[in-house]
Amino acid sequence: MNVIVVKDRQEGGQRGYQIFQAAYDKGATVFGLATGSTPVTTYDAIVASDLDFSQMTSINLDEYVGLAPDHEQSYHYFMQHHLFNKKPFAHSYVPNGLNADAEDEMARYNQIIADNPIDLQILGLGQNGHIGFNEPGTDPKLGTHKVELTESTIQANARFFDNADEVPRYAYSMGIASIMKSHQILLEAFGEEKADAVKAMIEGPVTPDLPASYLQDHGNVTVILDEGSASKL
Ligand code: GLP
Repeated sequence: MNVIVVKDRQEGGQRGYQIFQAAYDKGATVFGLATGSTPVTTYDAIVASDLDFSQMTSINLDEYVGLAPDHEQSYHYFMQHHLFNKKPFAHSYVPNGLNADAEDEMARYNQIIADNPIDLQILGLGQNGHIGFNEPGTDPKLGTHKVELTESTIQANARFFDNADEVPRYAYSMGIASIMKSHQILLEAFGEEKADAVKAMIEGPVTPDLPASYLQDHGNVTVILDEGSASKL
């Protein structure tokens, strides 16, 4: 893993953007995107840039089950707001949280990923080491699947909702196997609350207990940290 430590998430966003731009310049056409607060500074830098995605494809990692695309806490809505309204892609795929048929949604999304191999995947990191919504204990061989969120993730994400009861209990998420197929991976993690997960991801054993540790087995991963998240390395 190529680990870059910057001062704060602003600088991290700029470094993340540079990696995006380098992949773009080398001919990347399919970008795997993430939600959460972490990638926002990178998206801001993309929005401020002259990069044109109108011929490109984006594929998002995950979506809450049960939230409509226009629900303000849906990941569809997040992406529209932070990126797509300002930088439209030719095709933008996000799992359909309203598809009650999980088998159908998993098959549909796995086909999208198979048809559009991801050149660069951006990832955040959960405090418990999750990537996408692959919680500790997830079978690393899974593709897109339906996930029951852990209490720790529900509590961590409650800040975006009026209260924890409103956080959906399930999500559709790309699997670790789907993520590992990406050509290149950029993981960003900012803030001291991520420091334990960062240390385990980089220095710990590869284990289902810490899903991000599987990235140690991928040959092209860049990790951007700020001083807080890197503080235990
Ligand atoms: C959520 C998302 C992840 C994200 C993580 C961290 O659970 N499913 O993709 O990486 O939270 O969120 P944040 O970036 O807000 O810390």
